[in-house]
Amino acid sequence: MGNSMWYAFLNDELCYVSLWVFACLIAVIFLWQTTLQLAAHLRRLATFTDPLQHFHRVPDWRLSWVKRHLLYAPLWRNRHNREMRLSRAINMGTLPSRFHALLLAFLVTMNVVLCTVTIPFGSKESTVAELIRNRTGYMATVNLFPLLVMAGRNNPLIPLLRVPFDTWNLLHRWLGRIVLLEAVAHVVAWGVPKVQMYGWKVMLATLSKPFMFNGLMCMVAMLAILIQSPSPIRHAFYETFLHLHIALACIALGFVWHHVYRYSCKFYLYAGVAFWAFERLTRLLVLLHRNFRPGARTTAYIEPLPGDTLRITLQVARPWRFAPGQHLFLCIPSVGGWTSHPFSVAWAGDTAPEHEKCLKNTLDLPPSSAPAAIALLVRRRTGFTDNLFKRVVAHQHALRSPMAYHDDPVSLPALQSPTGPPLRLPALIEGPYTSHHTLTSYGTILLVAGGVGITHCLPFLPDLLRGYAAGTVAARRITLVWIVQSPEHLEWIRPWMTEVLAMEGRRTVLRVKLFVTRPRNPREIQSPSATVEMFAGRPDVSMLVRMEAAAQVGAMGVVCCGSGGLSDEVRKACRSVVGGTVVDYFEEGFSW
Ligand SMILES: Cc1cc2nc3c(=O)[nH]c(=O)nc-3n(C[C@H](O)[C@H](O)[C@H](O)COP(=O)(O)OP(=O)(O)OC[C@H]3O[C@@H](n4cnc5c(N)ncnc54)[C@H](O)[C@@H]3O)c2cc1C
Ligand SMILES: *[C@@H]1O[C@H](CO)[C@@H](O)[C@H](O)[C@H]1NC(C)=O
Repeated sequence: MGNSMWYAFLNDELCYVSLWVFACLIAVIFLWQTTLQLAAHLRRLATFTDPLQHFHRVPDWRLSWVKRHLLYAPLWRNRHNREMRLSRAINMGTLPSRFHALLLAFLVTMNVVLCTVTIPFGSKESTVAELIRNRTGYMATVNLFPLLVMAGRNNPLIPLLRVPFDTWNLLHRWLGRIVLLEAVAHVVAWGVPKVQMYGWKVMLATLSKPFMFNGLMCMVAMLAILIQSPSPIRHAFYETFLHLHIALACIALGFVWHHVYRYSCKFYLYAGVAFWAFERLTRLLVLLHRNFRPGARTTAYIEPLPGDTLRITLQVARPWRFAPGQHLFLCIPSVGGWTSHPFSVAWAGDTAPEHEKCLKNTLDLPPSSAPAAIALLVRRRTGFTDNLFKRVVAHQHALRSPMAYHDDPVSLPALQSPTGPPLRLPALIEGPYTSHHTLTSYGTILLVAGGVGITHCLPFLPDLLRGYAAGTVAARRITLVWIVQSPEHLEWIRPWMTEVLAMEGRRTVLRVKLFVTRPRNPREIQSPSATVEMFAGRPDVSMLVRMEAAAQVGAMGVVCCGSGGLSDEVRKACRSVVGGTVVDYFEEGFSW
């Protein structure tokens, strides 16, 4: 009896150990990020006394080593984000980076150690099995807390540690696998001695006791989660995956609740569930706050653009002060039901002149009271975005027929715009969520965008140019590289680009390089000016990065948003120059 009390005490203590390790990791990352933040702030301040910023080009070899071999390094050679495909349809997922892989290995090792430490393996088999059974049960439960915290978009650790959601998502998946393995060990350590001592019949009969049954059902639900969550399935049927995943997780939690409520580890479960419920509530409140105001609702104006893309201009009931790098979740109930999809904000504030005219006309709002518009560019995929695209095309067709012309008074004032007036639908948005990387302290900034990835990069330009004109940022050399398939894709951002190119100081700091990979004829590819150049074909990314590094002013910040293959190239190029100069690399993948 004394012995088992001692072991129960140990189980509780080891649960604390596991949570303390998480707390220490959080503290270390917080210190690291705060130091970097502080360094960036000082660097930005220093540019006011040292405009040439020579000092900030000089790398610290230790930091460079860490970036090159750990933080920015893919697991093996170069592959990180490019998906491993068996065929066009089957996406086997991506490899974690070296740092992430180490972190995951650490988590797994920690759990193996915590499940086995202090267990006297030399003693009687049945005692060892019982101890392991109890321990793995406790460890599986304590892990539910971080598991549930990491699942949420509104995880407070995201802004605190400036660690993006996709990293938490990776940890969430691995912690889920750890919990499942611990649960399996728990069941095996219970079942094997039972069978050995009393035979299968008794073991199966015991399963019908409520306590055992609840545990078993939780196990079954978790196995079902495992089966439905591999990357190919997740990516192919994301919505289905998500709904089923949440339902199965609720089932598993409900059963395990009844299984553990007698043990002290139940508090970890309660804490996890409370956090999850709180996160959901936060989302609901954000949604209500953002989209409903007396006399105003959020409305989406949707227009087709060349190349299977839509421009969605959102008239938000309660707008916010926009900062570059933000994304939001868009829900259009009449097209996608309650599902919401993440999109980066491509532009905020005034929209294109002709577009704005048509917005004002359709809105019947005096210009001053019209809240700033938030614009998205949405590439057509196969689910919600496809349905939305079809809806818009059908709307455009209907407008061309003379019947609809009279039905729809909204269409009248805007007929001069080339594609007809936008489709107008009630929408709900949730956000904004921020990427938390600021580029204000870099003398040299390279933005690399592939296709619709431009939405993540574009908003940094007006922000940095305004800062340059006001003398509040370190930026002296900004380069935007945009890779598109066809020249007509340039239309996506034409009005906004016109605005950027007209900004003060842009001729001195901003260079734009457009790469058209599939031009229809070579004459289309003409550079409008020396600072806005156009090329045919794919860029040599490593040469571009080396050119920037050679002409670098101050520290360099590189942002990439594009396909997995493109980010891997940019990552590799950055790693190759990181020891010679100061380079920070940021990536936005558009998926998790
Ligand atoms: C932070 C972020 C910013 C993004 N910004 C843009 C943008 O500016 N422009 C743009 O065109 N696309 C953007 N995307 C991608 C966009 O969210 C997906 O293309 C869109 O959700 C696909 O919807 P679908 O139903 O048509 O997808 P499907 O064709 O069914 O799936 C295509 C891919 O999108 C993923 N996906 C589908 N639904 C969701 C969802 N609800 N949440 C997360 N991923 C999902 C799937 O895993 C799948 O790999 C962004 C994604 C993220 C994570
Ligand atoms: C394992 O847990 C059970 C249930 O709490 C308890 O009765 C038993 O004594 C524990 N066994 C050991 C060896 O600690």
